[in-house]
Amino acid sequence: MTDGDAVPGRMAAAAPRPIVLDCDPGHDDALAIMLAAGDPRVDLLGVTTVAGNQTVEKTTHNACAVATVAGLTGLDVAAGCDRPLLRELTTAPGIHGASGMDGPPPVAPSVHPVQGHAVDFLIGKVMEAPGEVTIVATAPLTNVALALRREPAIATAVREVVIMGGAFGRGNVTPAAEFNIFVDPEAAAIVFGAPWPVTMMGLDVTHQATCTRETQARIGAIGSPVATFATQLIDYFRSTYRREQSMEDPPVHDACAVAYVADPSLFNVRPALVEIETKGERTSGMTVTTFMPEGASARHHVGTSLRREAFWDAVIRAIAALGSV
Ligand code: RIB
Ligand code: CA
Repeated sequence: MTDGDAVPGRMAAAAPRPIVLDCDPGHDDALAIMLAAGDPRVDLLGVTTVAGNQTVEKTTHNACAVATVAGLTGLDVAAGCDRPLLRELTTAPGIHGASGMDGPPPVAPSVHPVQGHAVDFLIGKVMEAPGEVTIVATAPLTNVALALRREPAIATAVREVVIMGGAFGRGNVTPAAEFNIFVDPEAAAIVFGAPWPVTMMGLDVTHQATCTRETQARIGAIGSPVATFATQLIDYFRSTYRREQSMEDPPVHDACAVAYVADPSLFNVRPALVEIETKGERTSGMTVTTFMPEGASARHHVGTSLRREAFWDAVIRAIAALGSV
């Protein structure tokens, strides 16, 4: 029987959803890359990097290091913006360390960045397959905003934009602002103000994606080099989240954005209008969220809950799949 033969009563598996992952590795960005590369429901077209958790030189190096450890020898990594649109860069060494991915032993990447800028890479991938590509952004939105400015047509060519960022409740940098939005509020205002569908996975839902010691042990039991690397990342992430955020188990924020593409049924999302505060002295970077009635037509959707066990099953399956490459 060939792959193409239909079996009566059996649903054909949906084609994997093509994505470009814009990120700032970053411990949870690293797990997002692993999920995107290992889950068969996602087709990772490439990774673009941006300044955020650390400088763009470091986040690019870290993305190449994850690709190397995971055996993703053909993965395109394109380096992007080295600072927010208007503001000075704020990094997060208190959470991610001086390297941006402290914890595991240093990696000498065998995967290297492609020529060209991340903004052009994003535009190229979206425009070569109109209606098909999803932009998943798990970092400050500087690259995505500039892609919109450089080629406004991506707003109608993209299938969807899914971001990790913001919160309809409290922030994690200030009471009002989550880090990715706090770093570049102007970029976020451009992204949420554009005529394309945006789903926001904010802290309200990503704080449900905690990696308990039991979950971490399941990852370690995979036994592959990439699984060991993941547990070393989580050990460090656990230490900083306990110290900086008073959370015993670290939340793998960014993997939620990828998981939503792989299996939207893992999440409950609600229609909403999300507006970005860019002027507030104490509220800059706030994602001001107005929920709409269920079923309302809305450009924005906001994650509110997560099926945690099924989420981690998907992440662990993906990491195990990488280990077999
Ligand atoms: O607030 C959490 C977000 O900020 C995550 O994307 C994490 O990687 C950091 O970038
Ligand atoms: Ca990130």
